[in-house]
Amino acid sequence: MNMKTKVLILGSTGRLGGALRRHYGARHELLCPARHDINLGEPASLNDALRRLDFDILVNCAGITSPDACEREPALAARINHESPVIMAGECQRRGARMIQISTDYVFGGEGREPLDEDAAADPVNVYGRTKRDAETGVLAACPSALVARVSWLFGSGGAFADQVLRDLREGREVQAIEDKWSVPTSVDSVARWLEALWSPGTSGLIHLCNSGSATWRSYGQEVVDQSFGLGLLQHRPEVRGNSLDDFPHFAARRPRFTVMSNARLAGLLGCEVPAWQEDLGRWLRSLRA
Ligand SMILES: NC(=O)c1ccc[n+]([C@@H]2O[C@H](COP(=O)([O-])OP(=O)(O)OC[C@H]3O[C@@H](n4cnc5c(N)ncnc54)[C@H](OP(=O)(O)O)[C@@H]3O)[C@@H](O)[C@H]2O)c1
Repeated sequence: MNMKTKVLILGSTGRLGGALRRHYGARHELLCPARHDINLGEPASLNDALRRLDFDILVNCAGITSPDACEREPALAARINHESPVIMAGECQRRGARMIQISTDYVFGGEGREPLDEDAAADPVNVYGRTKRDAETGVLAACPSALVARVSWLFGSGGAFADQVLRDLREGREVQAIEDKWSVPTSVDSVARWLEALWSPGTSGLIHLCNSGSATWRSYGQEVVDQSFGLGLLQHRPEVRGNSLDDFPHFAARRPRFTVMSNARLAGLLGCEVPAWQEDLGRWLRSLRA
């Protein structure tokens, strides 16, 4: 008898979806349709497409994740980031499947200075954040047993800020990074493990899936440099120079300044401390060396 859980991953070609595919592939039966199989920009056809698939759990990692792209194409962003996840949630509710929607720290407005828990008001300042906040509300209304997992500043699967820092330094460029914007760098490998630990007990509602601690882009970049130098991944140890969010007036989308999330709910559910981001960063950098 096949006892494997059937997991449908949308967005499996992306940074987080790719990591989930890697983690779950050996233990679960995965369905990973590509954009040409299921295009979330066309929500009208989504119900039919989903009904043809057999799954126990749907993890939606797909979306337009560039805030500037969302600002330039708000209607498309709404279809992909908001309307389609709500349809997924309705289908999960209908068939009794587990719905997991991935969300973001960008649902927060960024004016505070204390870590934000799941009860903090979501007051997004750009189209990306609004479409993701609307999806959170819509998904939980359509499927109250859904889990809506907010993540932030992901690293560990290529294409992240940490990869960019290493590439720039290896190619002889100096690194500058914003020092007046705060969040929590978070390992995709840890997110994959946390999600798996949470899906079977049926945890529902909002949850912050992030490592412990906080960083600015500058301090994050400096940690990448320092640890990489210590591991021999870099031959020199330059200083990451700081600049300000105000130095980027050409961004199409406003950025929230402070979106550090509290992971207390996650720690309580796991029954253990959540590792600091520096610890998971080190684990990932050591895997690059290996
Ligand atoms: N990366 C971060 O630091 C970060 C921070 C906070 C929250 N998040 C959240 O985490 C989730 C995953 O982010 P990520 O960084 O892994 O995203 P990503 O690398 O940008 O990948 C996005 C995925 O969505 C798919 N997609 C985009 N438009 C689509 C469409 N019209 N139809 C079907 N699929 C479509 C992409 O497919 P293609 O390959 O075809 O383009 C890709 O697989 C998102 O919900 C994001 O909001 C990420």
